[in-house]
Amino acid sequence: MQPQIIPASQYNGIWHGNEKNTITSINPTTQKPLGEFALCDPSHCEKMIEQAKKNQQLWRNIPAPKRGELIRIIGEKFRSHKESLAQLITLEVGKITQEALGEVQEVIDMAEFAVGQSRMLYGKTMVSERPDHRLYEQWHPYGVCGIITAFNFPMAVWAWNAFLALITGNTIIWKPSLKTPLCAITIQKMCQDAIQEAGFPNVISLLTASDALCEQLVNHKDIDIISFTGSCSVGQKVGTMVQSRFGQCILELGGNNAIIVDEDANLDLAIPAIVFGAAGTSGQRCTTTRRVFLPKTQFESISKKLIQAYQQIRVGLPDDPSTLMGPLIDKQAVTHFNQTIGRIKQQGGKILCGGKPHAMKLNFVQPTLIAASNDMPILQEENFAPICYLIPYTDLKQVICEHNNVPQGLSSAIFTNSLQNAEYFLSANGSDCGIANVNIGTSGAEIGGAFGGEKQTGGGREAGSDAWQSYMRRQTTTINWGNALPLAQGIDFNVQKKQSKTSNTSDTPKNPRSHRKNHKQPPKTESK
Ligand code: UN1
Repeated sequence: MQPQIIPASQYNGIWHGNEKNTITSINPTTQKPLGEFALCDPSHCEKMIEQAKKNQQLWRNIPAPKRGELIRIIGEKFRSHKESLAQLITLEVGKITQEALGEVQEVIDMAEFAVGQSRMLYGKTMVSERPDHRLYEQWHPYGVCGIITAFNFPMAVWAWNAFLALITGNTIIWKPSLKTPLCAITIQKMCQDAIQEAGFPNVISLLTASDALCEQLVNHKDIDIISFTGSCSVGQKVGTMVQSRFGQCILELGGNNAIIVDEDANLDLAIPAIVFGAAGTSGQRCTTTRRVFLPKTQFESISKKLIQAYQQIRVGLPDDPSTLMGPLIDKQAVTHFNQTIGRIKQQGGKILCGGKPHAMKLNFVQPTLIAASNDMPILQEENFAPICYLIPYTDLKQVICEHNNVPQGLSSAIFTNSLQNAEYFLSANGSDCGIANVNIGTSGAEIGGAFGGEKQTGGGREAGSDAWQSYMRRQTTTINWGNALPLAQGIDFNVQKKQSKTSNTSDTPKNPRSHRKNHKQPPKTESK
């Protein structure tokens, strides 16, 4: 049966589309089409940006806690449709049910966080060096926020950005991965319903865009801030384009995350953490564990335990409750998996288990463990597949340097019972990543913390903590409520005094700060 084109008009006119230019969403489990979706064209994009800009002028005047009300309604919709939304993720991404439910929960958590945050857009008050002055900072929205997301978290990563961008007074235009249009359109419809219920202007738009159109969004002068999640190479292009027009950019790019297993590590914690970190989401998280450093003396024994655990990983249909690993996202991902295995072999890596397409064929591959040495060039790359390198080490301090010696810097972990080694790993000499964990794996972060990483991971921070500040411009304000105009740094720029100096009267201040004499209550002494 030919898939039906979903008409753009079903989305309240907000989601535009050109029915002659479509993309097909493919079910990664069956490789069969799920539906055909109209792509936007340049004129839709332009109109959408214009509307987002206009509506932002209304939105920014709505008090932030009221803006939070919209997120509360959206969050409730996610809560009440949690199971069906998870099914949708499973259908379009091939994520196993447990992880798909976890992703929807992440959206719900993020909504609750953002609703609370909408009452906490705090600015600092600083002490002024001048009398009768108040010095403080306040935060204003940037304007229109473009959100570009990847296929692997088709809902949660949108939510991290969308909810914070909205409560902080920005309007948003979302460009989802073209591998997951069904998830995006469903979310857009839910948001439109919420906007109507709350009686707000339209502040949420969806741009189903080709790469060329995405460039139009990234380069557009009226997109004040771009949040991009994706590969380091595309992120570098996006960052450069946005920077060249002095726009704001939040980059959440690739990771090459590692776990260091210390000699005294509790293996009952380390083994399941490695298995979940490396094989969970079929290795398609930016936080996936890609490298595991094992003490040389225990390399054989721990590898053996890991191989045993890997043999228990049931690869299968993602909606089967006994499945732990579903398919890869598409055929290209399988090709990439096979090519990576070929390159690993060429570079001297030894396959300990897996390394082949799975007997289920289609997009299914085997979870794979590789005995590797740290000098294999491929270890510098993020493979985005369930391939995990086991690397022996002898010295902890040295292995931390090796751990850091990759271009990316997202997530990291150590398994240890030594307080000293844990603290060393967390010190400035330790992990150089945005996320550093002890006795917890590299993936599955909670939304409460700021999420993001250093180096080629891009430096952006999203989700919890003070990440909301990335969506706002900071304004530093000084209010003089006195009757004099003292200058900072004690500068004397008093016109009258300068005049009297040139006319040779003897009022030259000895103390450069003596302008304070003009103040109604000057300090008696100014000793330094
Ligand atoms: C991603 O893969 O882009 O920490 C995000 C985690 C998830 C988010 C991953 N909470 O693994």
